[in-house]
Amino acid sequence: MSVNWALPFEEKIFPKDKSNLIDVKTYIELHRKTVDNFKEFWARVAKELPWFKLWDQVLDDSNPPFYRWFKGAEINASYVCLDKHISTWRKNKIAFIWEGEPVDAKGMPKEIKKYTYHDLYKEVNRISYMLKTKFNLKKGDTVGIYLPMIIELPMFMLALARLGVIFTMVFAGFSSDSLASRLEDANAKMLITADGFWRNGKIVQLKNIADEALNKVSNVKDVIVLKRLGSNVTMKNGRDYNFDDLMNDIPANVYVEPVRVRSEEPLYILYTSGTTGKPKGQVQGVGGYLVLLHATMKWAFDIRDEDVYWCTADIGWVTGHSYTVFGPLMEGATIMMYEGALTYPDPSRWSAIIERYGINILYTSPTAIRGFMKFPKEIFKKYDMSSVRLMQSVGEPINPEAFRWMYDVVGRNEIHFGSTWWMTETGGLLSGHFPGLYTVPMKPGTNGMPLFGADLEVVDENGNPQVPEQRGYLVIRKPWPGLSLTIWGDPDRFIQVYFSKFKHYYFWTGDYAVRDRDGYFWILGRADEVIKVAGHRLGTYELESALIQHPAVAEAAVVGVPDEIKGEVPVAFVTLKQGYTANEKLANELNNWIREKVGPIATLKNVLFVSKLPKTRSAKIMRRVVQAVAVNKPIGDITTLEDETSIEEVKKAYLEFQAELAKRSDPKNSN
Ligand code: WTA
Repeated sequence: MSVNWALPFEEKIFPKDKSNLIDVKTYIELHRKTVDNFKEFWARVAKELPWFKLWDQVLDDSNPPFYRWFKGAEINASYVCLDKHISTWRKNKIAFIWEGEPVDAKGMPKEIKKYTYHDLYKEVNRISYMLKTKFNLKKGDTVGIYLPMIIELPMFMLALARLGVIFTMVFAGFSSDSLASRLEDANAKMLITADGFWRNGKIVQLKNIADEALNKVSNVKDVIVLKRLGSNVTMKNGRDYNFDDLMNDIPANVYVEPVRVRSEEPLYILYTSGTTGKPKGQVQGVGGYLVLLHATMKWAFDIRDEDVYWCTADIGWVTGHSYTVFGPLMEGATIMMYEGALTYPDPSRWSAIIERYGINILYTSPTAIRGFMKFPKEIFKKYDMSSVRLMQSVGEPINPEAFRWMYDVVGRNEIHFGSTWWMTETGGLLSGHFPGLYTVPMKPGTNGMPLFGADLEVVDENGNPQVPEQRGYLVIRKPWPGLSLTIWGDPDRFIQVYFSKFKHYYFWTGDYAVRDRDGYFWILGRADEVIKVAGHRLGTYELESALIQHPAVAEAAVVGVPDEIKGEVPVAFVTLKQGYTANEKLANELNNWIREKVGPIATLKNVLFVSKLPKTRSAKIMRRVVQAVAVNKPIGDITTLEDETSIEEVKKAYLEFQAELAKRSDPKNSN
């Protein structure tokens, strides 16, 4: 999808605090120096971390693109996030403030819990001890986590990291099929899950979904079940264990020595959607990742000891991994963690949270902001949000309207507000505004500057730098700490997906971008078949595969169409097998089917029935053509198209759909 606002957008905004403000030219010069000497640069940053053993080599680039940072060094993420702090004054500092979703009759949260670094350290040690002694988990094992936003989630991530166990977290909004395929691909021997959780005032019965997934996989031998709701769930004898029972006899003061993990060994696997095929397991190596997080927590978030920091992303996505758990913990921050919907029980819940805890740093998404914008500003402004001194956005392009709204409602038109671009594959953010370092004036809608030490460039089809203000492809020309090690179990695909489009082994991000005349980056959206629905990354291929499993569906093409709030939403064009009739009932059935197969985030805006889809002569569906029709763009080259009348079919279906939408939103038709 491309942005729907005109470029170039010239407005510049200067934050009130100008202490670190420099002009763009100077930033670019400084940046160039860090990139020219990127190994020395990152080595200098890395020295600030508490390694058990320093590296023999800053970067092993002998086998590109399998770059290995800080080769020979040893570290442990749990040690960096916990042990490091508890030997200092931070021992009694609050690490997490956790708030559950349910509220009482006065609208006040029923559950608030606070954990100091010492509390967290003790609990993580106890959980590590339990996992080690009762399940014999050891370095190199893989374990699945399917948990909601409860405090035990970061505890388990840290406890597993302490043992050198590789965890793979699956977002609790994903379906049983999605969970099963990830558990299987990662060869997880254990799953950690919960009875359920609260979302938008409703209970989600997570264990039931987990059970369905577990029926489909054979590698998971043990399941630990946490009781978030205290509800009764069916437990399978010999497989399922109640977390509280397991912890009963674990002493309060056990200590588990953090395993020395080599910098280039995996910390986690996180599955993410790509252009083709099923989601790919990105393998994140521990050393480079922690170095990038340390740098970006300081530079992008300017994190300070007195801050209360809140990243609103679910930990199941990469933003939560990096910027709710590992990044802020390693910096010893006080972190807000909220269980539920930002707009429950009313749209201003998030503002109430900011006021209640005096949040200073806020990291959120354009979709969240556009959701708030539906309501009058006054309902948010009645809360005191003056504690917020810095905001960043992530996940999708931020439209200038959303920027300005948030800048006014929370930012008092004076604080710093930027947009940080990055991907699951990059481990941490690589572009934005860096108020903790040097920053440049804000420009609503842009992604600012590349991070020091990260060689971002916009290139043309041949990999040559694109001229300013011309759309091109966003690539990264040099390796950086945090770059995914590989795709789990499929190194060839890692090369093919990211390092084969351009010569010289440039990392291909999959995004379109432009650099404007001032040197600012504008990320315009995906150039491939990935769509971002409410900032969540989905592959159209995944949705199509799910649809064609339905007995009525012969073929399916899913494309993303612009949406006012979610940025993009999927629409499916479907041909039916003989004997099935296209009607609303079937459309609803297919939508429910997708929700069950992939998860509620994949909800289709609509299912459009057509008698044929545009295909190449070799019978490949031309999704590009379908997409062009759906967003009313020129169709481009159709020399390989077999049957031109198929375009008319798709057009007709789409026009009817739009007419239907217009009818639905016409007040005359509502009753
Ligand atoms: C998009 C999320 C514009 C982009 C951290 C990227 C953005 C994809 C931004 C990765 C931003 C992320 N502005 N687009 N600030 N941040 N994106 O792996 O298309 O879920 O390629 O990582 O999100 O999505 P992922």
